[in-house]
Amino acid sequence: MPGMSLLDACGRPLRNLRLSVTDRCNLRCEYCMPEENYVWLPREDLLHFEEISLLVDVFIGLGVDKLRITGGEPLLRRDLPTLVKMVADKPGLADLAMTTNGILLADSVDALKAAGIRRVTVSLDTLRPERFVALARFNELERVRKGIAAASRAFGELKIDTVVIRGVNDDELVDLIDYGRSVNAEVRFIEYMDVGGATHWSPERVLSRQEMVARLAAHYGGVEAVPATSSAPADRYRLADGTVFGIISSTTEPFCRDCDRSRLTADGMWYLCLYAVRGTDLRAALRDGASRTELERIVTDAWQARTDRGAEIRLALGDRRAFVPLRSLRQDPHLEMHTRGG
Ligand code: GTP
Ligand code: 5AD
Ligand code: SF4
Repeated sequence: MPGMSLLDACGRPLRNLRLSVTDRCNLRCEYCMPEENYVWLPREDLLHFEEISLLVDVFIGLGVDKLRITGGEPLLRRDLPTLVKMVADKPGLADLAMTTNGILLADSVDALKAAGIRRVTVSLDTLRPERFVALARFNELERVRKGIAAASRAFGELKIDTVVIRGVNDDELVDLIDYGRSVNAEVRFIEYMDVGGATHWSPERVLSRQEMVARLAAHYGGVEAVPATSSAPADRYRLADGTVFGIISSTTEPFCRDCDRSRLTADGMWYLCLYAVRGTDLRAALRDGASRTELERIVTDAWQARTDRGAEIRLALGDRRAFVPLRSLRQDPHLEMHTRGG
């Protein structure tokens, strides 16, 4: 049976778990993995499906009802539909989604849907092939578009996440909204965040929500705010023709006060914030033979003590640079956004 929601020290419930199934990725997006070399998690540390399933039971028992599968690129994890099947039917789970770069989606979307994925979000930052290569280092736009088309066919709709970087892709907002409309996707523009791994971040490269709205309103002749219905990070807007898009303004207008999200890395480290520098090692507890009750106690104690509001604290800093220096990322890959699962 699903448990009562557990509250953190700021009264925020534990509801939303982002489950990273691999730290590997088949792109090198400028805002996430701009470096030449990376330190990867040791393979023997990756949680087995049975271990993930057991941890998911623990989280659901404590109130989690939304699960999102992430990476790295989650479709690089072998036999992913098998894992999806193991978690999809757990009582108490209201939502099971996946965030992917879309490259491998066309061939796997039917199996994933059959296994129990209920919706997908695809990351797409540009519609221009040369720019795609400049931004993500691989010439994969065509396969991503095929993946999006396949997801649209399979699910009838999807979301597209676009990280907006000034001077890189900020001239494509309208093109992306128009493309989204053509594939029945709700496009969400994400402010460039200074998370671990974003080693090329600088405040000048951020296009703020305010600026995005002003530009889109000028182009479309007005945009209307859609009232919020959940703690989801995106604020939604509607154009005169009914098209809805979102903006995730974590950099200039953080939403920490409503944050019900935590993150489990592929090797079983549990983080309470995108910006947290320390996590809880659930793999060690599991492999030391902790019982389900003991695991519940570890998670409960950590969540009840949670005061994290990383993005708000970053905003309050006057002088803001990339969050984690490269040498620290090399020492602890858990600080990377691609290990945390976005
Ligand atoms: P739904 O709205 O339920 O579809 O999910 P979502 O928006 O949480 O999922 P998605 O993976 O599409 O998240 C979009 C992006 O929002 C992430 O890649 C992050 O860039 C950002 N984001 C998600 N959760 C958080 C969070 O807890 N804190 C911050 N600062 N940013 C987040
Ligand atoms: N800023 C904003 N979003 C980011 N993501 C990764 N790095 C960043 C960043 N620096 C998010 C994006 C991307 C997903 C995989 O992670 O949403 O699409
Ligand atoms: Fe949640 Fe941390 Fe993001 Fe704030 S910065 S919304 S606390 S994950």
